[in-house]
Amino acid sequence: MAVRPIVIYGDPVLREVSKNVEHFDDELKNLVSDMADTLKDANGLGLAAVQIGVPLRLFIVDLSAIDITEKLRVFVNPEILETENDCEYEEGCLSFPGIYQKIIRPADVRVKAFDVNGEEFEMKISGMAARAILHEYDHIEGKLFIDHMSSMTKTMLSGKLKKLSHAS
Ligand code: NI
Repeated sequence: MAVRPIVIYGDPVLREVSKNVEHFDDELKNLVSDMADTLKDANGLGLAAVQIGVPLRLFIVDLSAIDITEKLRVFVNPEILETENDCEYEEGCLSFPGIYQKIIRPADVRVKAFDVNGEEFEMKISGMAARAILHEYDHIEGKLFIDHMSSMTKTMLSGKLKKLSHAS
């Protein structure tokens, strides 16, 4: 159980395409436990393993923050099966502290993944949860939320982005 430092924009690891998780062992459980502690400490909604410098295809999303009947979900080796209905909403990212921007993303998603024990599951999800899952999925592909912004928005944010990448 440990809070790990979050990798900030500018670190090249955030552009790596993460590799499949091969073993559902204690090492994976420890990693997920550290990710959960780190997410909670940062008051975030979702965190990909690569954001603590481990480029494995794995992310967590705290769905309980959106739906009280839900819980923190672990998505290992996830696959996006279907997306529908674009919508625009403000988004942030723990690797971009202080930056919030409206992003267009699908509002509905069907995703398949394994849990921490290696059990496969599929879920159809909408709204903020769908957005969070797609945002985290991007991380494992080395994609960042700024890649969804217009060049005008990125120009507007260039000062802040430069500052972040120099601080890291
Ligand atoms: Ni993010």
